[in-house]
Amino acid sequence: MIKTICTIMLSAVCLQPAAHAGPVEDRQALLDHYHALLPNVGFTDYVYGTFSMDAPAKRQYDDIMSFPPFSIDVDEGQALWGKPFKNGKTFASCFENGGKNIAGNYPYYDDNTRRVVTFENAVNACLGINGEKLLEYGGKQMGLITAYAKSLSDGMKVAVKVGGKGALSAYLEGRRYYYEKHGKDEESCASCHVDHAGKPINGEKVSMMVGQATHYPEFIGGTQLMTLQQRYRQCAKNIGGKPLNLNSETYNDLEYFMTYMSNGLPMQTPVFRK
Ligand code: HEC
Repeated sequence: MIKTICTIMLSAVCLQPAAHAGPVEDRQALLDHYHALLPNVGFTDYVYGTFSMDAPAKRQYDDIMSFPPFSIDVDEGQALWGKPFKNGKTFASCFENGGKNIAGNYPYYDDNTRRVVTFENAVNACLGINGEKLLEYGGKQMGLITAYAKSLSDGMKVAVKVGGKGALSAYLEGRRYYYEKHGKDEESCASCHVDHAGKPINGEKVSMMVGQATHYPEFIGGTQLMTLQQRYRQCAKNIGGKPLNLNSETYNDLEYFMTYMSNGLPMQTPVFRK
């Protein structure tokens, strides 16, 4: 089904970022594009993705979120976050403000390691400096810990910075990947989430990219934990593309680019998705 629609979509013209444009211009061009394409969806509603364009689905979402089936998982994440390491310290000791209202600053670019640092990387760095075993990316423990830890930043506006040459090249690498055609269906992430945002695929309206990075990890069907990069892999598979490894440099750059695009939107973690 997706394939049929993708084939039709091939005829579409993509909104391509201008080669000389930087992050500020790119973001403005995307916001203008969505505003023109979806005039009835307000900026702050972008965080609801597909639900922002479907009133009954949004009502169902609100009902589920008022009594989330994953609250037990978040409690488990809280216990893991608060559990002292062998040296007596906890995760809170590694993060500014004990981890409150800081997740919106991630990912950031580290000029020393010349790499993008995701929130998950920061969790593992904390384990490392405290002599603990690192967690697997995409593993349950990492998912539960980040689901809770990022909820400490609920309401914080995403505030990702791209400053300096190294940061800009990581951003541009993420952007390149997003607009590049992948897989046998020859589609880019942008062909759906930029050019066809709001059009239905398999009964769901395709979400706009702006807002997607504000609410991860999420719970698919209310129970299956999924990180942002696991979602990248799923979309890549759906279009017959090659999913990359979790925490690969390209996926981290992609996360950096996409999260920058969500700047100014309030975070909420975790959330329900179908
Ligand atoms: C053929 C169209 C198509 C392509 C191409 C595509 N996606 Fe998706 N994507 C979807 C659909 C359909 C959904 C589920 C409905 C929704 O939330 O948009 C989705 C969902 C998502 C979500 C979850 C949104 C949320 O609010 O939780 C993310 C993130 C995402 N895609 C990223 C990507 C990335 C990155 C790429 C490129 C590797 C990509 N997608 C390529 C169709 C597509």
